[in-house]
Amino acid sequence: MLAGKHILLIIGGGIAAFKSLDLIRRLRERGAVVTPVLTRAGEEFVTPLSVSALAGNKVFRDLFDLGDEAEMGHIQLSRIADLVVVAPATADLMAKMAQGLANDLASTLLLATDTPVLMAPAMNVRMWEHSATQRNLGTLKSDGISVVGPNDGDMACGEFGPGRMSEPLEIVAEIEGRLADGPLKGKRVLVTSGPTHEPIDPVRYIANRSSGAQGTAIGRALSALGADVVFVTGPADVAPPDGVQVIKVQTAQEMLEAVNGALPVDAAVFAAAVADWRVSSASDRKLKKSNDGLPVLTFAENPDILKTVSQMKKGRPGLVVGFAAETNDVIDNATAKRERKGCDWIVANDVSTGTGIMGGSENAVTLITADGSEDWPRMGKDAVAAKLAARITEALG
Ligand code: CTP
Repeated sequence: MLAGKHILLIIGGGIAAFKSLDLIRRLRERGAVVTPVLTRAGEEFVTPLSVSALAGNKVFRDLFDLGDEAEMGHIQLSRIADLVVVAPATADLMAKMAQGLANDLASTLLLATDTPVLMAPAMNVRMWEHSATQRNLGTLKSDGISVVGPNDGDMACGEFGPGRMSEPLEIVAEIEGRLADGPLKGKRVLVTSGPTHEPIDPVRYIANRSSGAQGTAIGRALSALGADVVFVTGPADVAPPDGVQVIKVQTAQEMLEAVNGALPVDAAVFAAAVADWRVSSASDRKLKKSNDGLPVLTFAENPDILKTVSQMKKGRPGLVVGFAAETNDVIDNATAKRERKGCDWIVANDVSTGTGIMGGSENAVTLITADGSEDWPRMGKDAVAAKLAARITEALG
């Protein structure tokens, strides 16, 4: 499964570094080539000699080692791999990655690399739960870094809880998943998701009931098929998928900018519930009650992102998929919407009260294409996402 795949393995300084020796062995058993990088702190836990002997490869240690630089510059070293794996990813390494520091070989490689990164955190439970580490974790996930673990369990420091590095075989399974040549490998797909928030004043906004569940499931399903996913999301209830590039926005206008910045893509799926209107002159001060009566809000129309992208003369994605949230005459309205907006497909759903679809875990959709409409049975949002991702794969052929 991993034959001929090249893994750049960065070993941080934690007690779990000993498990990385076994990880190297397991990866090599499966035919992977492992280039190890050991941090200064990592050397306190495992010796360069044992790492290099198990890897059957030179161990890289120092940014300023002229010998290393002469053989292979750090930029080149960061790019040779199919996957960069950080195991153990200590709190310190995670903080450096989140900040973009480049003050030793490991952090420089992580900043310079353009290959996907998977990290296996390992640290004391309090360090893991600390808001600084959780903040860094959020940043790293948004940057598209995949995470495996940590697991719960007894820790070397005598405490119990999350913080133990995943077992080598769990990390291997994750690596195999990341490196599987899915049918969408090499395809770049944009997904919009979640609601938008349109400000009224600094503390109030207009929103809708979208949870982001369907868009998130679509992003995850496309990524699982090997696509390079750019996920543009409004303030959703559900966390964005792992291992994709996440761009967080608040308003429709910001979403349009993020979408424009993400182009060109092979396909785009517009699952976001974008607010059609914004308050035309949102106040930069909190509106106060007054004796002059009720405030009057005036509205301006938001840009229609789906329509803008569908009707692009240059750089239009090969496949544009929109959604249609309807409460009545679903198929007629959605068919008209497909023509009006100029997209290729519309995924229509009935969001009237009582269906439990908006904000719920299931969806009942009709796929509308140039060839007509197709009712899909009611199923979980993950299943809808998998079916749609399979159809997108066929279409991108
Ligand atoms: N959409 C968009 N930008 C907007 C409004 C909607 O990109 N400003 C996209 C949505 O992401 C969805 C599709 O357009 O893919 C349809 O959204 P929907 O709310 O059903 O349609 P509207 O265009 O808002 O039409 P209406 O509210 O009149 O039904």
